[in-house]
Amino acid sequence: MCGIVGIVGKGPATPRLVDGLLRLEYRGYDSAGVATLVDGHIERRRAEGRIRNLEALLLEQPLAGSTGIGHTRWATHGAPNENNAHPHATEKVAVVHNGIIENFAELKAELVAKGRKFATDTDTEVVAHLLTVLILEGLSPEAAMAAAMHRLHGAFALAVIVAGRPDLLLAARRGSPLAIGYGEGEMYVGSDALALAPLTKMISYLDDGDWAVLTTDGAQVYDQNDKKVAREVRETVLSGALVGKGNFQHFMQKEIFEQPAVIGDTLRSYVNPATHRVTLPELPADLATLKRVQLVACGTSFYAASVARYWIEQLARLPCDVEIASEFRYRDPVLEEGGLSMFVSQSGETIDTLSALRFARGRGQKIAAIVNVPESSMAREADALLATHAGPEIGVASTKAFTTQLAVLAAFAFAAARARGTQSPERLATLAQAIAGIPEKVSGVLAADDRIRAAAKIVAPARDVLYLGRGTAFPIAMEGALKLKEISYIHAEGYAAGEMKHGPIALIAPDVPVIVLAPNDEWFEKTASNVQEVRARGGQVVLFSDKAGIAKIGNLAVAAIELPSCDPFVAPILYSVPVQLLAYYVALIKGTDIDKPRNLAKSVTVE
Ligand code: AGP
Repeated sequence: MCGIVGIVGKGPATPRLVDGLLRLEYRGYDSAGVATLVDGHIERRRAEGRIRNLEALLLEQPLAGSTGIGHTRWATHGAPNENNAHPHATEKVAVVHNGIIENFAELKAELVAKGRKFATDTDTEVVAHLLTVLILEGLSPEAAMAAAMHRLHGAFALAVIVAGRPDLLLAARRGSPLAIGYGEGEMYVGSDALALAPLTKMISYLDDGDWAVLTTDGAQVYDQNDKKVAREVRETVLSGALVGKGNFQHFMQKEIFEQPAVIGDTLRSYVNPATHRVTLPELPADLATLKRVQLVACGTSFYAASVARYWIEQLARLPCDVEIASEFRYRDPVLEEGGLSMFVSQSGETIDTLSALRFARGRGQKIAAIVNVPESSMAREADALLATHAGPEIGVASTKAFTTQLAVLAAFAFAAARARGTQSPERLATLAQAIAGIPEKVSGVLAADDRIRAAAKIVAPARDVLYLGRGTAFPIAMEGALKLKEISYIHAEGYAAGEMKHGPIALIAPDVPVIVLAPNDEWFEKTASNVQEVRARGGQVVLFSDKAGIAKIGNLAVAAIELPSCDPFVAPILYSVPVQLLAYYVALIKGTDIDKPRNLAKSVTVE
């Protein structure tokens, strides 16, 4: 993954490179580094861990220069230590890289045979040596870049500075995104427009296979056939302001509490508050006659899609497949020509989902994207964008992006049901009412904050935790387990409650808390039986249900937390919130790095 940034300019580069890296820290935080040209020579500062470690190093050892590159790393090849931190440099070039060079082993053998000495375990270092060899063989840096592009396999974004050429910054993109920023007498590159937002609003995006030569006067872009091309320069709407935590201890906590507001913001784009009429942006398919829809996503977004399958099939009687993006295209699925594929993603940059989107397009599918970042690759490449309005989500564990995705998917299911005439006008009116009422109900869930915090004490000592739910609560059980794993490092599994007796019941023991999500829906009685089965085996149940549910089975639980009663259709949105809070408070007890949990990154841009 990783974030990259570069400047060919006139003012001091280092503070601005570091500022850009701070905006890209969501892409990885294993190490960080910058390189600049000082009197024509390449100078580097690199540090293991967070960008704040690099900042501390730069205070002790400042770095001059007006042309430079920076990197924040999510380790793929080589341990996350200082030696493997980017930029990687030779006597001629310094390189920062996002992605994977798949043929690095073959290139490395070739370069070692030519006498090049490697200092790191990374795949990236081959790029530095390859460019160096090409330059030493007599090519100009620009020609060396063109030649290198034909030798490198894999997905990557690159930025390169060249010794003795403070007027030059080279950039390339294949697979991984890269934006070019246009300043006054300066030019910039960055993994996204957000990294460049304080420097310029004028942005262009490289297309796949493009490489570019940036000087203080402008940029010349070349396509994959080395033909000069022009890419549209547009004004970004992204703000240069960094988002703060306000009065909250963590971004994750703040984002959980923002949910009533951002779900409301999202719904306002789709539901008229006066008439409760649901309107979607124009879709590339007719919902009334559509035969099948695919939903494709990763991680938390996949669980949002999994809830939507229940909604779309039950309400609209529209056959719906849900696919994990990293499996989808390699499975060689049968897709109907002209069918609708929808891709769900907070970032809009997750490479598995983006590659699946391109695969589906290649198979003749119409593409809709449910995305939170408006200028992301998926938002730009889709035929229709169904935006979520969660605002910037900084916590690596996704919370408000998830519930706003659910809000959009609920609106989609509703619109499909109306178009297909599968629900009575009365039921549609009740559903519209229920959708419009979600923000208020979510506020009601947040009022249970103290009780959820108390229940976290039951869960925190556990080594393993089970989450159970039926129907639309099943994907929420999986999402709850994912949240707990991500930020507390406790092993947790989400199961369909009815599936428990087919194996996981063997795990039930007094030290394995069982979190049961039991909204008062058509599956409640069956879930209640599963709670009995857990209790019969000495399991400790933490129950989330409404007043009626708790009256029926609350006595079986060590903690029973009452949530507002609601139409079962919107229950998965409400029940998402307590599992987020539970994971948050368990992680708080365990003292983990909640906003930046170990080994993770906010946006996963490698396969
Ligand atoms: C969520 O808490 C995760 N960090 C992760 O599973 C995430 O949802 C997944 O990587 C997909 O990201 P996207 O929504 O940006 O595509």
